[in-house]
Amino acid sequence: MCGIVGYIGTRQAYPILINGLRRLEYRGYDSAGVATLHEGELQAFKCKGKVSNLESLISEQGGIKGQVGIGHTRWATHGPPNDVNAHPHGSEDNGLVMIHNGIIENYLPLREELTARGHQFKSDTDTEVLIHLIDDIRKNADVSIFEAVRIALGEVVGAYAIVVMDVNTPHQLIAAKKGSPLVVGIGDQHREYFIASDATPIVEHTKDVVYLEDEEIAIIDVVEGFKLKNIKNQEKTPYVQALELKLEALEKSGYEHFMLKEIYEQPRSIRDSMRGRLRADIGKVELGGIRDYIQKFVHAKRIIILGCGTSWHAGLVGEYLFEDLARVPVEVEYASEFRYRNPVIYEDDVVIAISQSGETADTLAAIELAKSKGATIIGICNVIGSSIPRATHAGSYTHAGPEIGVASTKAFTAQVTVLTLMALHVAHEKGSITSSRYHRLLIELDSIPEKVEKLLNRNGEIKEIAKVYKDAPNALYLGRGYNFPVALEGALKLKEISYIHAEGYPAAEMKHGPIALIDEEMPVFFIAPKGGAYEKIVSNIQEVKARKGKIIALITEGEQQVGGMADHSIQIPDTDECLLPLITVVPLQLLSYHIAVMRGCNVDQPRNLAKSVTVE
Ligand code: AGP
Repeated sequence: MCGIVGYIGTRQAYPILINGLRRLEYRGYDSAGVATLHEGELQAFKCKGKVSNLESLISEQGGIKGQVGIGHTRWATHGPPNDVNAHPHGSEDNGLVMIHNGIIENYLPLREELTARGHQFKSDTDTEVLIHLIDDIRKNADVSIFEAVRIALGEVVGAYAIVVMDVNTPHQLIAAKKGSPLVVGIGDQHREYFIASDATPIVEHTKDVVYLEDEEIAIIDVVEGFKLKNIKNQEKTPYVQALELKLEALEKSGYEHFMLKEIYEQPRSIRDSMRGRLRADIGKVELGGIRDYIQKFVHAKRIIILGCGTSWHAGLVGEYLFEDLARVPVEVEYASEFRYRNPVIYEDDVVIAISQSGETADTLAAIELAKSKGATIIGICNVIGSSIPRATHAGSYTHAGPEIGVASTKAFTAQVTVLTLMALHVAHEKGSITSSRYHRLLIELDSIPEKVEKLLNRNGEIKEIAKVYKDAPNALYLGRGYNFPVALEGALKLKEISYIHAEGYPAAEMKHGPIALIDEEMPVFFIAPKGGAYEKIVSNIQEVKARKGKIIALITEGEQQVGGMADHSIQIPDTDECLLPLITVVPLQLLSYHIAVMRGCNVDQPRNLAKSVTVE
């Protein structure tokens, strides 16, 4: 997934573009570039590496002028990260230049066709093929740049968010979107416009934004104004929304990394995901976003939960919650598998799609498949106005605030909080749990933010444990019941930011093979709070200890038995078993954070990753 920005207006474009790229760098960071138009001349710089590399290159070259420009930070799909494959890409005569987020699936036949017509390409990218196609159409059909873009996009198969700049129309930018996000900000009474992959580069300039819908094309003209058409050339009325995003949410606010800030934000973000929804004092859950669909849940014969990565782990917690509390059968599916395996989907299925970014391509595609079979689609997303909420029938936002760190932390606990509210609400409606358990769980859920706050005070001791295991080549995470998904999530956190190979397993599963991995080099992180199958996990710990495995155990405050067996233990507040994931994940987030920092890894922008995978 990549980050794209554009500006046209009364100010110099470059400072706005480069700052916008810094805000979008979490979306992809293997190469970057900008292009501007100044007095009829196109200026363009691009290079491998981070946005800071591009900044140095441009300042060495004496800067870049122009009141209209585009910028791009890349997560490579076609062609390795290098200077040539970096965006922007231009037509052969450099009369047109373009940036792109997405994948043109039919770029090879298009490239062959254009090559046969004499086009020569410099890069390996699908993007360069698209700008050549646009140029080819514009020249041969002698049409406007808008019309050439519209016709070219009609030939494209795949996903795109593009901005095209034409040397011959310096008062205009053309933007278009399908399957990848694109937002237009309207500034200074239409005297300037901002374009970006999401609202983060726009929020400091204007709150008035238009989220483009699929197959819409924006003609952004500082002379003629802002026009919106679709690929069929029909006029569309732009729906201008007021941004709710706050600028300070995009800063590190004194933390060394966004990830640490977001781990520490969890007492607030969990509270915000319950705000206006949980009335523990009167025993009420109010989920306005799905109010009209609660009966669908109550009468559902099955719930299918879709997600990827951390969102899939949250979905696994959802499975335990809905089956345990609401007695509804649940299947949790990797969206990428679900969409291709010809699944059986019934009209009375309720599908919950979980996504922090709301832009994950596989999840979006899985939603469309389920919707086409008549299922009811409920979203749990964090980014307001993103593509997934707009593709669902209803849903509940997690309200965790922007999550900039690539490794998801506060989004996970917010997703689990919303799933807990949903499961409790449905259970209460169905009468599948006693009133006393329902009320007790609501009161306990209400206390979770304070318990997380207290747990964060153990950061120092967790950092000390991280020092011991920062050079381990491998690691195992083991949990049972509600903590099995947390074991998977803890392993994902460690591997994606410290590059240590880590695996999560149900603790009982060790005997069926993985125990062969145990030796004195292997740190085993046991999630072993009181409750549930506590005695069983004690046995599992003994099995590992007998084979000299290093044991790091999360234990309930004051517990002695496991604490006495482990090489290191981290005490966590006690809570109801079904609420444990909201607690047990936090020490694992901190452990992976500290280990990654000690290993000198780029915690907020780990190698090979991007914050939202908008390509398949
Ligand atoms: C989690 O730390 C990862 N960044 C990744 O697995 C992420 O959860 C996954 O790509 C799904 O993203 P989404 O929640 O935005 O759909």
